[in-house]
Order: sequence, then structure tokens, then C-alpha cells
Amino acid sequence: MNDFTTLSQRADAHEAKMARELDYVFIQSRLHLYAEGKMELPPSAASLLKGKPNGRVSMGDDPRLPAMPAKPTLIDFFHKRFGPSMHLLQSAHHARKNGLPEKMILACLLHDISVVGFIRGDHGYWGAQLVEPYVDEEVTWAIRAHQVLRFYPDPAVGYEYPKNYTEWMGADYVPDAYVEEDYKRMRNHKWYMSGRQITLNDIYSFDPNLHVELDEFTDIIGRNFRQPAEGLGYDNSPVAHMWRSIIRPAKYL
Ligand SMILES: [Fe+2]
Ligand SMILES: [Fe+2]
Repeated sequence: MNDFTTLSQRADAHEAKMARELDYVFIQSRLHLYAEGKMELPPSAASLLKGKPNGRVSMGDDPRLPAMPAKPTLIDFFHKRFGPSMHLLQSAHHARKNGLPEKMILACLLHDISVVGFIRGDHGYWGAQLVEPYVDEEVTWAIRAHQVLRFYPDPAVGYEYPKNYTEWMGADYVPDAYVEEDYKRMRNHKWYMSGRQITLNDIYSFDPNLHVELDEFTDIIGRNFRQPAEGLGYDNSPVAHMWRSIIRPAKYL
């Protein structure tokens, strides 16, 4: 440091040095422990910080994960959280090639964001909820429906039960009763074919040789996703906290 360093620069440097020396402890949410089959409570902050004067629980950005901008866009989430998400890009690419309207291309692009960025089980319901304030109602409906409709063939439009589901879940797998109930409701809904279109463009989208760039959909996102000016997570929408949990998944409180 030379004589020209200002007091505030020195304070900043000191803070940075302190931050480097802070010893953050990351405590998993109970949901993460359940997912590992563990019923014990997460360790307490007190026990983890014992004997660590520089220890802190994580309340800010998680230094282990890619830094998010202050006002994150959907595209930022694709780049810094959801990546590489080729399955989503391929699905949207197929939807475009098949001549689907823009909002359905967007639905295909977003249909599995919960799998790639949040929670797997019931991913259609979680994914729909994540985007609900920002997209056309039909997009939300279709994203929610796709996970249900995938279990039910529709020969009239050429949709068969996925072969890999038989391998992964067993030939005797039967969807839960609530899925069956939702199927009956969705089958008779005016937007049934929108949900079905996601399943039609979904099933063929695991090609390791097809590389698709997110740039292909920048315009479609711009026209069909109401990006909040404050950034996803900070717009006071009913789902803002869910986006914040993706930004900081191990925030202590
Ligand atoms: Fe899915
Ligand atoms: Fe999918």
C-alpha cells in the first residue's frame, strides 16, 4: 500500500482481508437431509462455530457458487445456476423446428427448470410456480401438466409411454393417485394440447450430438418472459423467495 491509498480504500482492503479469513460454515436445510435419508437434525450453528472466532454462518452470497448479479435475469439463472441445461435448449429447439408458437417454445425451454435448478420431485408443479408471475397463464399450465402427461400415452398424436421410464421406474410403476386425478382434469382441459406439446418435444431431446445455444432464444425470452426490473428474487412477487433460495441455497436464515 502506498501513501496515496485513501482511508476508504484501506478500509476496503482490510474488510476484504477479514472476509478472506472468515471461516464460513454451511448448514443444510432439513429438506436436503431428508433427501439423503437422514432424520437427524442439522448441526447447530453454535456447535459448528465453537472454537472458531472467525467462524460465521452464511448469510450472503455463497462463495462456492458462481456469483449472481444484483438484478439477475432468467438468462443469468441459465448461465450461473441451470447450466448446461442442454435438454431444455434441445426441447425448445425442437419446438421451434416443429413450428410451435413462441409461448410454447418458451414453455419447452422452461419445462424442466425445477429439475435443473431447484427440486426434482413434482418438478412440473415447482417449475410452473417459479415462472407463474412472468409468463402467459397457458405456459404455466403446460409446464405443470407436462410432468403428469408424460405418464399417459396419447396414440392420437403419436405420444408413447417413455421407454426409459420403464427402465428407470420399473414396468410395474403406477403414478400416484394425485397424478392420476390431475391427469383426468388435464385431459379435458382446453389447454391439454399445450401440455401435450411439451411432452412431444421433450421425449426426443436427449441427443448428445445436438448443441444448441441459449442465444437462439434471447428474442423469444425477451418477448414472452416479463423479466422484473428489480431482478428475479427481488421483485416482491409471490415466488421471489424461491428464486432467492436458488441464488443462496445454504443461507442460514
Ligand atoms: Fe419434465
Ligand atoms: Fe424434459
